[in-house]
Order: sequence, then C-alpha cells, then structure tokens
Amino acid sequence: MAEAMSTIRADFDRLALLSGEEWDHSSHYHNFLLRHMPSPCRESLEIGCGAGAFSRLLAKSSERVLALDLSPNMIRIAGERSALFPNIEFRVADVMARELPAEKFDCIAAVATLHHLPMAEALPKIKRALKVNGVLLVLDLFQSEGLSDAATSALAWPLSIGLKLLRHGRVMPPRQIREAWAEHGRHDSYLTLAEVREVCAEMLPGAEVRKHLLWRYSIIWKKVA
Ligand SMILES: C[S@@+](CC[C@H](N)C(=O)[O-])C[C@H]1O[C@@H](n2cnc3c(N)ncnc32)[C@H](O)[C@@H]1O
Repeated sequence: MAEAMSTIRADFDRLALLSGEEWDHSSHYHNFLLRHMPSPCRESLEIGCGAGAFSRLLAKSSERVLALDLSPNMIRIAGERSALFPNIEFRVADVMARELPAEKFDCIAAVATLHHLPMAEALPKIKRALKVNGVLLVLDLFQSEGLSDAATSALAWPLSIGLKLLRHGRVMPPRQIREAWAEHGRHDSYLTLAEVREVCAEMLPGAEVRKHLLWRYSIIWKKVA
C-alpha cells in the first residue's frame, strides 16, 4: 500500500506544476467534512495538504492550522495561494518521519492522503496527536469490489460527467495532467471499504465510515477520554 516516499514526492511535485485550483471528486466533499469540525477549534492539522485548498477552509474555523505535505512544489504553491491566511503554517514533511506533539490538535484532516500512509502506524500516531474530544476527518478513495460498488459507480458516472461540464466546461482534463495522474495511478493502491471498516473497528472504535457517491469514503472519528 505505502509506496516509496520518493516516488510519491516526485509524482506530486510534477502534479503540483500542472494542476490548477479546480473542483474534483475530493473537493466535492469538503463541505461535508467541514460540518464535522469541532467548535471551537484552536489547533488543526492537515496531513497531505497538497496545494492547500482544504487547509484554507480549515483556517476559516481554526485559530491555527499546521499543513504538512511531502511535496516541496505543493507546499510552495499552497503558500502562494494562501497569502490571505496568516494562521496557516505550511511545512514540507513526511508525516511518518515527523514527530507530532501529543494531544495537541482539535482537528486532524487527511483528504485523499491516507492511502499513501501505512495505516497501522499512521492511525495510532494521529490518535495520539488529537486532544480528547478532538475529531479526525478523513476522505479517501477505495478499491471497488462487488455488486454494490459497481452499482454506485454506475450512478456516479453521469453525475461526475455533469459536474465536470458544469465546473470545468469539459469532461477530460488536459493530456499532460491525464498522463501525470495515470503515471501516479500505476503505483497507487487502495483498501476496499470492507478493509477500511475492519481497520476502523480495530483502531478507531465508534468511527463513522460512509461511502460517498463519487468514488470516495469518509471516516469521522471523535477521540473520547
Ligand atoms: C492525492 S494528493 C491530495 C492533496 C490534497 N489533500 C487534495 O485533496 O487536493 C495526496 C497528497 O498527500 C501527500 N503525501 C503523501 N504521503 C505523505 C506523507 N507521508 N506525508 C505528508 N504528505 C504526504 C502528497 O504529496 C500529496 O500532495
């Protein structure tokens, strides 16, 4: 599951230079995640912030946001796009190599990033870093399996095409971007929803795991004392 960090960094350094600030299947669920933020929220952490779109949303309801990403290009662009958000600190970091302070964050978010991390090590680390009553917000992709996922996918296609036409005026991204994502996809892999639920039952008791239409799932988990 967890690819070599150098490969992931190279993929996202390349994608950072090609991609704009566009709606996509993950950002479609940003508002859903934000509705589960704790209030008040002093300290937020985003893991794998990319170009910072979700960090800026977190920053509107948090006193401070620490936003980490492996890719220097992503962090540079995130900083450039976030000039109006002095309460966000962007840092180039591999979250698995960086120590996170214990019980520091009210909210920790990972959007389309958890599948890059070794879950068995990442989740305990994230749990330790959350305050009691802090909330973990995850959105990620999953490996489709079985009839139910195939049926969901059949419904998702027309919605996805309609939303892409509405948001971008086209269905396909430019060729260079398609090629960069295809190259990244060659070494990307995802858990099935059943596997996600199994991991959550073991490591995040009480977590709400939901399947969303546009090939995404979410985990909302509150740390209790
Ligand atoms: C698919 S992108 C998602 C970016 C952003 N969250 C979004 O939704 O647009 C995954 C991001 O996770 C970052 N990433 C992957 N592994 C990481 C790690 N170990 N530590 C920090 N960031 C990581 C990548 O560099 C990339 O920017």
